[in-house]
Amino acid sequence: MRRAIYPGSFDPVTLGHLNIIKRAAAMFDELIVCVSVNSAKPSGLFQPQERVELLRRVTEGLPNVRVDCWDGLVADYAKAHQARVLVKGLRAVSDYESEIQMAMLNTKLYSRLDTVFLYTRPKYAYLSSTVVKEMARYGADLSDFVPRQIIEDVKQKVNSTQERM
Ligand code: PNS
Repeated sequence: MRRAIYPGSFDPVTLGHLNIIKRAAAMFDELIVCVSVNSAKPSGLFQPQERVELLRRVTEGLPNVRVDCWDGLVADYAKAHQARVLVKGLRAVSDYESEIQMAMLNTKLYSRLDTVFLYTRPKYAYLSSTVVKEMARYGADLSDFVPRQIIEDVKQKVNSTQERM
């Protein structure tokens, strides 16, 4: 069984993430999308379990995709789930430096673990969860940014957060 893990913050999942998920799911027997904690982005818009629910909704039609959540080291998660491949998306050269460092660190932590990079489709190169949140705050149309099934969730969450500001 060729199992791969796609870790990330997914706060929230974007169309760019979903494109990577679909392409990776076609390459492996099983893909686990794992909501993980990025210590550089400690507090997010959605709680980790909410991100999992949004991911489950948008990956419903992909039978070999599972969604999970983990607040420890991704390398430990991979070892525990007998996975030897991490999938990461690359948008630009600027992503490369930190991603290659993380890949090397993860191999240091678990020597059987390799990271496979999928380049983003150019139409999603500008897209990130941060861009989605910014656009939502200004009431922009989100249909080119996030899967349609979660547009209302993002709008509502951003609006309720703003009310508390
Ligand atoms: O979507 P992001 O924010 O770029 O994802 C980064 C993430 C969550 C994959 C990374 O921060 C991570 O792997 N965090 C889990 C803790 C860990 O394993 N750290 C060691 C590698 S930096």
